[in-house]
Amino acid sequence: MNFCSIDDVDDPQSWVDEAIALKNEIETYGPHVYTGKSICLLFFNPSLRTRLSMQKAAFNLGIQSFIFNLNQEGWQLEFEDGTVMNGYTSEHIKEAAGVLSSYFDAIGVRSFASLSNQEDDYSEKVFNQFVKHCSIPVINMESATLHPLQSLADMITIKEFAKVDKPKVVLSWAPHPKALPQAVANSFSQWASHMDFDFVITHPEGYDLHPEFVKGATLEYDQRKAFEGADFIYAKNWSSYTDYGQVLSQDKKWIVDQQKMKLTNQAKFMHCLPVRRNVIVTDEVIDSDDSIVMQQAAHRVTSANLVLRKLIG
Ligand code: CP
Repeated sequence: MNFCSIDDVDDPQSWVDEAIALKNEIETYGPHVYTGKSICLLFFNPSLRTRLSMQKAAFNLGIQSFIFNLNQEGWQLEFEDGTVMNGYTSEHIKEAAGVLSSYFDAIGVRSFASLSNQEDDYSEKVFNQFVKHCSIPVINMESATLHPLQSLADMITIKEFAKVDKPKVVLSWAPHPKALPQAVANSFSQWASHMDFDFVITHPEGYDLHPEFVKGATLEYDQRKAFEGADFIYAKNWSSYTDYGQVLSQDKKWIVDQQKMKLTNQAKFMHCLPVRRNVIVTDEVIDSDDSIVMQQAAHRVTSANLVLRKLIG
């Protein structure tokens, strides 16, 4: 079993309940004793939450975790078949994946989008080579198009804070100076569509996500209208999918501020972090009592606990 996307999850709503139950169990009984199991956490890109929440979850379950920052510490990997490796790549993914599979019981991989080659990114060229060549479970720690560990944590957080059975959940694009991947927004949209939400996405024209990920969502280009009556505002920037990897707008009017939050049903504010203050969201909103970004980040451990237990016990 792998954890690559929501397609590996039989019943997403029951995973949310199981994750909360496991968190309570660990809080009551403490971490498990060492099981003899181990996991490699392999990063091509930086991380704070994913790296440390996975290590904390491994500790909770009695699993030893090993971090490998491949770009800084490993050999440059070759992903093409049949290449004459007389250039800058030193090790083929086939050997690397085989060796890692012989050392560990599972592997987590973080491999961001290049944002320069849409075909490679949307075929998950790097991440899927690990899935193909590893003989152990592979966990998506944010790939080119998806971030399911984040999304599971987001669903757990919404479950914890929802005041109504069917909350209005709004995913709002917000400005950012750099081009960011679509992974968090894609993944959040996929998971949200499996929950009992009134789910609305708002973004400027030109920022439509890949249609595969937004089935069941309502698209509203007017951000203020989208915010009306919302129970949760999830802010996130992403670069254009259609004009691939481009920053088409840095319109400051899309910042999440207190004036817009007043249009909501006293919505909770969410962001996956890291967040650029006073670019994505004002200090006033993120520092308010309605901001749940810390609880959301804490639930990264809750989601990682469950995924590790399901994959390696
Ligand atoms: N949200 C998230 O994945 O954070 P990191 O990039 O710090 O892991």
